[in-house]
Amino acid sequence: MTTRALHVASELYPLLKTGGLADVVGALPPALIERGADVRVLLPGFPSVAAGLADLKPVAQFGNRFGAASVTLELGTLPSTGIAVYMIRADELYIRHGNPYLDDDHVPYGDNAQRFALLGWTAAQIAQHVDPAWVPQIVHCHDWHAGLAPAYLKAAEREKGKTIARTIFSVHNLAYQGIFPARQFALLGLPADFFNMHGVEFYGQLSFLKAGLYYADRITTVSPTYAREIQTLAQGGGLDALLRERSKDLSGILNGVDYAVWSPINDTTVAARYGPSRLPGKRACKEALQKRFGIAEKGDALLFGVVSRLTEQKGLDLLLATLPEIIRRGGQLVVLGTGDPALENGLLRVAQAHPDTVAVERGFDETLAHMIVAGSDVIAVPSRFEPCGLTQLYALAYGSLPLVHRVGGLADTVLDASLENLADDLATGFVFEHFEPEALRAAIRRAFALYARRTDWKATQQRAMRQDFGWGASAERYLALYRELV
Ligand code: ADP
Ligand code: GLC
Repeated sequence: MTTRALHVASELYPLLKTGGLADVVGALPPALIERGADVRVLLPGFPSVAAGLADLKPVAQFGNRFGAASVTLELGTLPSTGIAVYMIRADELYIRHGNPYLDDDHVPYGDNAQRFALLGWTAAQIAQHVDPAWVPQIVHCHDWHAGLAPAYLKAAEREKGKTIARTIFSVHNLAYQGIFPARQFALLGLPADFFNMHGVEFYGQLSFLKAGLYYADRITTVSPTYAREIQTLAQGGGLDALLRERSKDLSGILNGVDYAVWSPINDTTVAARYGPSRLPGKRACKEALQKRFGIAEKGDALLFGVVSRLTEQKGLDLLLATLPEIIRRGGQLVVLGTGDPALENGLLRVAQAHPDTVAVERGFDETLAHMIVAGSDVIAVPSRFEPCGLTQLYALAYGSLPLVHRVGGLADTVLDASLENLADDLATGFVFEHFEPEALRAAIRRAFALYARRTDWKATQQRAMRQDFGWGASAERYLALYRELV
């Protein structure tokens, strides 16, 4: 029997993307459909979503809700994959210039509780037949933005005395919790007793993330190691006790790579196509990258690349601290990122001081991201924590050896170029254990040492490129979870 599942999220590549969540929401539903599930997606009607969906038609009118004078549910299709996407049209809430979550001063919008409550509430409505033509059995919620959907469903089920739909809450990042002042609870229309330690309350405040973790039937996160880490006091963000309590309902399912988008053999956005048995093209990509960033066009300088949100999570302060090691050894660094202004400025200052070797570009640019992943020798992802991480997976596919901290999904996907791993044909990158300059510096030295042994370097690149991190295995695991639930 086909399982009908509604994915609820705030981003979807290629319509709207601020990070890896969008890549997952863009790729997982098609992978599930390919394997026989009947999947649709629900998104807020942000400007690029409303502009990018085809054949939008109204499905239901909700009138005045959550501070928007007129809320309409529409159904359209995503031209790139043909997926059916429900969109919430609520212009007062969603039509804003710039970032979907933050204003131009990087401050969360004052009405985010209502903006994302509407997302969860609408998901619960769809499960209650607002579109008679399609009713999901599973409501699969991604991150805090969708965290209230399971709460609204539990409230409706209590009222009706029967099960409406089963819910899955997928944690992509426990650091973003969707926390609001307690007084905003009154805006949500949930039963009063839901504001409770056993409910949506979190140390006296309202937490959308906790709502998802508490009310969903199952919890998943995006790598096995992160699933263990978040159950510890150190990395549980205050929710470790709840996560431990629910450990039998919690599983880690690794993200996959959409090789239709990230594959050097047919990537038309980069300077030359290449593959594991056709590596010379990569040299052209490196040259193009050096030229684009205006650094010295030296074919044999070990080139490190970074494509990242610039936040505390990503550990780029540590990379900054060890940059002299890269420069002293004749290496180069290119960075594409946006986020924390202090980090942006710190990176820009180093680039000014070393124009031949370090270059930084502020902003979010999909094509440039491909150019860096293809043209670099090493892609650095020195994150403090990393639920899964997609950048290192893209780097593997492009033979750009990942340099990573051994946490979360990074630990699950990259094997260090230690002597024993090289001897056993296992190495795919450079892994450091302790989040300290000394440990990162040692990993950087390993990268230079391996680069000096060109035959080993090439063999490691080829091994990295031949890894299969496609969505197949992970989609099967989600399907098994769906089957268990319905
Ligand atoms: P996170 O979701 O925590 O940001 P991931 O590694 O899972 O980390 O996913 C990041 C995604 O966002 C990747 O697709 C990466 O290429 C992309 N990305 C991050 N920063 C930028 C940027 N400045 N420009 C273009 N793409 C970016
Ligand atoms: C989050 C995490 C990242 C993960 C992505 C997609 O943004 O920070 O590690 O890969 O979600 O699941």
